Amino acid sequence: MSTVHEDAAVADLPVADWLNPAEMARDPFPTYRKLRSESPVFWAPAINKVIFSTYAGCGYVEDHPEIFSSHVEGAAMVKAMGGRPLIRKDDPHHATERRPMNRPLRPKNIMEAWSDMFAENTNHYLDVLDEVGPGADLNHDFAAPLAAKNLISMLGMHPVEPDDMARWSADFIAGSGNVLDDADIWRRCDQSRDECHEALDETISRLRRQPDSSITSAMLEGGLPEESVRLNVMLTISGGINEPQHMITNSVHELSHHPEVLAEALHDESVWNKIFTECARKYTPIGMITRETIADGEFDGFRIPSGLQVGAILASANRDENQFSDPDRFSVHRSEGTHFAFGRGVHQCAGKWAAQESIGRIAVPALYDRFPNLTQAPGRPEEWDGWVFRGITSMPVTW
Ligand code: HEM
Repeated sequence: MSTVHEDAAVADLPVADWLNPAEMARDPFPTYRKLRSESPVFWAPAINKVIFSTYAGCGYVEDHPEIFSSHVEGAAMVKAMGGRPLIRKDDPHHATERRPMNRPLRPKNIMEAWSDMFAENTNHYLDVLDEVGPGADLNHDFAAPLAAKNLISMLGMHPVEPDDMARWSADFIAGSGNVLDDADIWRRCDQSRDECHEALDETISRLRRQPDSSITSAMLEGGLPEESVRLNVMLTISGGINEPQHMITNSVHELSHHPEVLAEALHDESVWNKIFTECARKYTPIGMITRETIADGEFDGFRIPSGLQVGAILASANRDENQFSDPDRFSVHRSEGTHFAFGRGVHQCAGKWAAQESIGRIAVPALYDRFPNLTQAPGRPEEWDGWVFRGITSMPVTW
């Protein structure tokens, strides 16, 4: 374990100068194991961050917003979206924007206003999958368009095509991670932002005349300035497609390897929710969240100075052997505490109930209802990509 430092501010911290983001994009789990086994805190020069990789460490970051601010200066996300959405603000400003957003995303509203719509969208894309036939790519032909369509409905942006919504989402995510300042990424991001604003011109003027049960409508009714509404819609577009899409493919991937769990779910429908929870833990679609220290902190004997960027690696915390026994194993009957896939504290995912309902209770069970023999296509392995955002990019299936 190296302790050689270029920066005096982090002189007390061990250095993970071996951490290789490109290698992590292929498979981050060996790096996470090494981080956890060597030190709960590291300075990682390759990503210019203090990183926390254990369950306790990520909890420390999440539970101390007075030290770990979300108002990250110079955040690429702010440039990508043309302003600061609520995820990059601290309370009380964050809470002012989060409150109106919470209302439509509560379980009662989801059941009353959106469950039927989720089921209708699911049926539509089951038909598409059926038309493509065995050998179809579950990600391309089902999970991606369904996640986009559900989000269009939740945001009240009905005239938008799922392909456009998915492209905007991908461009905002690429922009939010564009720390190397790639000009082509900014160009695509600018174009998607312009298109999104144009669509929002129609959406906002319609919802001002005719409010509905959408998230956008709730933010307008809640009196948020139009600029904040637009920024938070763009944030929701960037965070509300990729992760649900990955949860669908992850679930079918695991169930293809665990027919006994599938049999259990077909016998007892409460097991679907456990499958959703365990897939979220094991594959944690948002691998790392970013903060900035605005006061000195201390964790496990390490002093964490103010003024540094911080990464809390949720995907590693969710595989911490001190919290979860045999953490690489898929086990739907765990009772070892809450995982971090949706974060914790004031920035905990606003869409977690919507994701649980649309995927865990509706999309995944419906896939097996329509195609009881659904499984990964033999001899055609799935492809994974990413670590900050990680998921399956292609997975041929058969039935
Ligand atoms: C399984 C799917 C999902 C996962 C794993 C996930 C994960 C997360 C995580 C880890 C955060 C915290 C980020 C941080 O603290 O920096 C977050 C925040 C957020 N998520 Fe999700 N998310 C999912 C689906 C959704 C959906 C469907 C929506 C919208 C309908 C959504 C909207 C948001 C918003 C608005 C925030 C910001 C909350 C705040 O800053 O107060 N998410 N999500």
